[in-house]
Amino acid sequence: MKKTIRDFDLRGKRVLIRVDYNVPLDKSLNITDDARIQATLPTVRYALDKGAKVILMSHLGRPDGKPVSSMSLSPAAKRLAELLKTEVIQCSDCVGSRVKEELGALNGAASVALLENLRFNPDEEKNTPAFAGALAENGEIYINDAFGSSHRAHASIEGITKFLPSGAGFLLEKEIQYLGDAMQSPKKPFVAILGGSKVSDKIGVVENLIAKVDKILIGGAMAYTFLKVKGVDIGNSKTEKDKTELAKTILDKAARSRVEILLPEDHVCAQKVDEQSPVKIEGPSIPTGWLGVDIGPKTIECFKRALSDAKTVIWNGPMGIFEMRPFAKGSEAVAQTLAGLKGAVTVVGGGDTAACVAAFGLAEKMTHVSTGGGASLEYLEGKVLPGIAALEEQ
Ligand code: ADP
Ligand code: 3PG
Ligand code: MG
Repeated sequence: MKKTIRDFDLRGKRVLIRVDYNVPLDKSLNITDDARIQATLPTVRYALDKGAKVILMSHLGRPDGKPVSSMSLSPAAKRLAELLKTEVIQCSDCVGSRVKEELGALNGAASVALLENLRFNPDEEKNTPAFAGALAENGEIYINDAFGSSHRAHASIEGITKFLPSGAGFLLEKEIQYLGDAMQSPKKPFVAILGGSKVSDKIGVVENLIAKVDKILIGGAMAYTFLKVKGVDIGNSKTEKDKTELAKTILDKAARSRVEILLPEDHVCAQKVDEQSPVKIEGPSIPTGWLGVDIGPKTIECFKRALSDAKTVIWNGPMGIFEMRPFAKGSEAVAQTLAGLKGAVTVVGGGDTAACVAAFGLAEKMTHVSTGGGASLEYLEGKVLPGIAALEEQ
């Protein structure tokens, strides 16, 4: 059993909480789904009620180790202040003397601060001890409430636990409980649905899921790497060239294990990722100069049939670029199908997938909507997440 926030005396202490505020933003940098912020409120409020000063830290996007203004956490700080109805100090960075000065204001009326995007510094992802130590100087107790990032052995997730007493926040605890319960002895047929754009990150998961599930439905950008190795023309669709060997191995392994992998038979195709761009339905091949932006109507029907008798479903990764209305039909159909399944356990995970289900008003219809995408998949695969492993035992 790992320590949790309940195991510490927080009165008067500076509590450094890692959260996952990697929230979806629109072009004007408005937050389109604040579920990841809302989900941390129990931990933040608990710490405040116990008399702690709360210092939050997170990454947002993938700025690759340098400041990128569109990836500032400032929209998250504003939203958090609205939700907590209190002032939130927005720090200019995450380490260093200026940040120390800014955190000095925590002695006044404001009791919450949010550090700037951790990934503006290359040492966050490299997990250097010097950077983890510098982060640790911002607090006296470390709490991990960033379930969605706990599969990353980064400084704010893993390295920092070597410098401070550490434990889990309520969100981390809840996610582990829900996902653990759902997966303990999953009722069959057990179907996994994968899509989204983080193909390199998640394609390995497909291989490990073969041992656990009966069927895997693949849509989103994830599908094109598989279609390509099957010799299907995919036009300008997003693929990962260096993952073609792995995709081949996965298809072979699934065939040997008699696990069905269903790939799109047709696609909504456009010439540009632009909602004004004319579309046409093509499939399975995508013509030169066009790219796949959503699964097509035949695929929707095929996926619906494949899900009709499912008793356990996990879904990560939208079926198309759902942020643009004309490319959202596939994701909406999948969300509606899951919402309508009788007596099935449905677990949806991922910042964008959760946002997509919420946008269709269907979040309440799922058994569990996890804040973790890659993290929930790795947890469901049975992997030990580095962010959980690193926390102190009770
Ligand atoms: P999650 O956040 O749920 O873990 P990902 O981050 O892996 O999911 O992927 C979400 C993104 O995938 C969305 O922003 C969506 O626009 C994008 N996406 C889905 N289908 C495609 C596609 N065919 N081509 C490009 N991007 C896609
Ligand atoms: C996510 O959105 O899955 C988490 O915030 C982790 O982001 P990452 O894949 O960029 O590490
Ligand atoms: Mg995402």
